Amino acid sequence: MERELALEIVRVTELAALASATWMGRGDKIQADRAATSAMRAMFDTVSIQGTVVIGEGEMDEAPMLYIGEKVGSMQGPHVDVAVDPLEGTELLIKGLNNAMSVIAIANKGNLLHAPDMYMDKLSVGPSLVGKLHLNDPIEVTVRKAAKALNKSISTLTFMILERERHHASIQKLRDLGVRIKLLSDGDVAGAIAPSFAESGIDVFVGSGGAPEGVLAAAAVRCLGGDMQGRLLPNNESEWNRCKSMGISDPDRILSITELVGKDDVIFAATGITPGEFLEGVSYTSDQRASTHSVVMRAKTRTIRHIHTSHFLPLKFKNM
Ligand code: FBP
Repeated sequence: MERELALEIVRVTELAALASATWMGRGDKIQADRAATSAMRAMFDTVSIQGTVVIGEGEMDEAPMLYIGEKVGSMQGPHVDVAVDPLEGTELLIKGLNNAMSVIAIANKGNLLHAPDMYMDKLSVGPSLVGKLHLNDPIEVTVRKAAKALNKSISTLTFMILERERHHASIQKLRDLGVRIKLLSDGDVAGAIAPSFAESGIDVFVGSGGAPEGVLAAAAVRCLGGDMQGRLLPNNESEWNRCKSMGISDPDRILSITELVGKDDVIFAATGITPGEFLEGVSYTSDQRASTHSVVMRAKTRTIRHIHTSHFLPLKFKNM
């Protein structure tokens, strides 16, 4: 993959973010999602790749655009796997809450896990905890190991986890141990990436969320030098068979970061829609301009680019 691709990709997340940002707080999930998805789909035509969507908006019969298996790009350039979430955190956007963003990860063909639409148990850490924790450990062991490796007292450790009923036992154990906790209402792509950004103040991300979101987050974590482990959580026979048909022979196995996103280069781009852990949201000025804040990074060089862009809206949406 050419390095210029990183800048082409960020234009795609920018447009999806701009298209959906006007739906903030308006309570309409369908319109918000449609705006992000159709803008992202249209902009992909300008990107120099022969891409196949491996993580997208659903199966071909469920999603009109950016469905799994859809070919995207200008059909010139490298053959790549494409993982997208045009609007990660739909609920966040329609309520005007933090952390909604538009996200893409790209890797050479065959590198991204074709994660089925089910839950995945996740453990994600930043560079200082690489190799120190294991997804199989009980939460109290994870806490002790993290405190020791970071040379912190338990009361100054910060864990992040989605606030869900299925996590109540883990949250209670963290509270009993005296760990600081940041509960997320939604949006675990941002959550799983947070420990890899030192300024987030998050030491460890734990808990289950969407498997596709797990692959997207793992792409960013690899670029940032952190680590992530995942385990698919098929809930019934049909989900189990789905894993197998997607080439995942033992769904119970813990997947390493390289099994999630490969060992080669990966490009990750995200544009904030509402403000979040590491991105500003879309904001508007009175001169028909909107500003976006994106991050784009590559695993090969570990370069992290923050891109602030001022868009002139009448031209941006002229052809859409
Ligand atoms: P959507 O943007 O697709 O609604 O996903 C939001 C999200 O919070 C993800 O970040 C997370 O992985 C998943 O939903 C968690 O699922 P659930 O709400 O079922 O716990």
